Amino acid sequence: MARAALVLCYCWSMLVVLANGYPDLGVNWGNLATHLLPPKTVVQLLKDNGIRKVKIFDSDPKTLLALEGTGIEVMVAIPNLLLENMADSPVNAEDWVSENLLDFVDKVKIRHVAVGNEPFLKTYNGSFVKHTFPALRNVQKALDKANLGKQIKATVPLNADVYYSSSSKPSDGQFRPDVKDLMIQIVKFLKENGSPFVVNIYPFLSLYENDNFPIEFAFFEDGGKPVDDKSYHYTNVLDANYDTLLWSLKKIGVDDMKVIIGEIGWPTDGNKHATIENAHLFYNGLFKRLNDNKGSPLRSSAKFDVYLFGLLDEDQKSIEPGYFERHWGIFHFDGKPKFPLDFTGKGQNKMPIAAKNVSYLEQKWCVVDTNIVNNTGSWTVQKQLEVACRDGDCSSLTPGSSCSGLSSISHVSYAFNMYYQMRNQKKSACDFEGLAMIVDKNASQGRCLFPIMIDVGAGKRLNFGFGGIIATIFIMFFMLM
Ligand SMILES: *[C@@H]1O[C@H](CO)[C@@H](O)[C@H](O)[C@H]1NC(C)=O
Ligand SMILES: *[C@@H]1O[C@H](CO)[C@@H](O)[C@H](O)[C@H]1NC(C)=O
Ligand SMILES: *[C@@H]1O[C@H](CO)[C@@H](O)[C@H](O)[C@H]1NC(C)=O
Ligand SMILES: *[C@@H]1O[C@H](CO)[C@@H](O)[C@H](O)[C@H]1NC(C)=O
Repeated sequence: MARAALVLCYCWSMLVVLANGYPDLGVNWGNLATHLLPPKTVVQLLKDNGIRKVKIFDSDPKTLLALEGTGIEVMVAIPNLLLENMADSPVNAEDWVSENLLDFVDKVKIRHVAVGNEPFLKTYNGSFVKHTFPALRNVQKALDKANLGKQIKATVPLNADVYYSSSSKPSDGQFRPDVKDLMIQIVKFLKENGSPFVVNIYPFLSLYENDNFPIEFAFFEDGGKPVDDKSYHYTNVLDANYDTLLWSLKKIGVDDMKVIIGEIGWPTDGNKHATIENAHLFYNGLFKRLNDNKGSPLRSSAKFDVYLFGLLDEDQKSIEPGYFERHWGIFHFDGKPKFPLDFTGKGQNKMPIAAKNVSYLEQKWCVVDTNIVNNTGSWTVQKQLEVACRDGDCSSLTPGSSCSGLSSISHVSYAFNMYYQMRNQKKSACDFEGLAMIVDKNASQGRCLFPIMIDVGAGKRLNFGFGGIIATIFIMFFMLM
């Protein structure tokens, strides 16, 4: 596409931005799901809702193709598993740049490459610590060599667990001792290169990990006890966490680092705090805060630059951190909005625009055949429940979740249906040793939605088989009911 056309296209996107609210608002678009919307459908969803920036977790060519000519700003990523390879040799990084970016840089507004994702997370036990900085250096060098270094900056999205405060005050912030020396090197490199510091901040996890966490603080509500720190006044986790980072940077001698919040959001299911009501409350507070057009207390002149996490629910995300992991979307997996959201922060109760032209599988559900089950030993049912949950998705059945109130029979039906839908309604996926049957009456109950998957088309269907760590928990849970 001609350069002139691109310039026009970017100007147009600026106008749209001005008309549509917070200009620095981005979203994370992940794809760890069995049934993915076509990239073009997702891009239309972004456009319809005035979202002008996305962060993706790879450099998938189909995704980048769909973003061509849209003027939407993109942060692409190199997964953690490639860090060692990138670190090994500058040539590997050069190959990555030429294979993944060169075809798109003229048509897609790629501005950042995320080198790894939260590589210093404590749960990784240091697996990626050694390779991250060399990989970052090699990738930026490769970008420079391809003459892209000015427009595309390499950075490393980090979890906020790389720094902490020894008190509740942001001014006691400092980097975690085990990664401090490394952080000094990385920050220095990013700064010299004009690259941003990218940090993921999760007020939900503060509450998830500590029931005594002041809830008003997570929801941007007045009424909680504010934290006073020097002359600064903190009433919410975003401000306090962000300034803890700024203080940590100050303490290593860096005062003016550009900061991007790479992930922030609230899940809607899979935990008692993860509800649609709480997510609605959180996002309302967040958008209001963003539209103050003021940054954190310590740096009020610089507006927040944020990417929401996330765009769509992903039913293949690891539930090791918690069952809520599969429910971070502001939209359901099929692009239906979950709750009203006002991207302008003006508090209008408006549903976001849903994905258009989505095609679904047939109106068929898989449920327990009560005729049979009433005459079967409960041991057999539990065995089949275990199968369904191990290779399906039972995260919405966990305590405090949207389907936790079902009767024990409906509980099993939910599990059977998820298994069946995730396998594209294959007849053999609704058997469970004869305990299940296919029905054409919507099996949803109250706020517990028995979904029907989207039609991803024959030939594009995924094979999968993922872990069985939760099966036992579900059997126990079922037995308790
Ligand atoms: C980290 O270490 C713990 C305990 O030694 C172990 O259970 C876990 O699987 C390890 N995680 C990774 C990602 O290596
Ligand atoms: C709608 O979806 C179908 C296939 O699912 C596709 O062939 C068609 O081009 C789409 N139409 C629009 C306007 O996106
Ligand atoms: C199965 O048992 C349940 C609970 O005892 C009862 O409500 C239901 O009517 C029975 N179904 C059949 C088909 O017998
Ligand atoms: C089934 O019913 C629920 C509400 O109970 C509704 O939200 C959902 O859209 C329905 N599903 C279909 C495929 O009609």
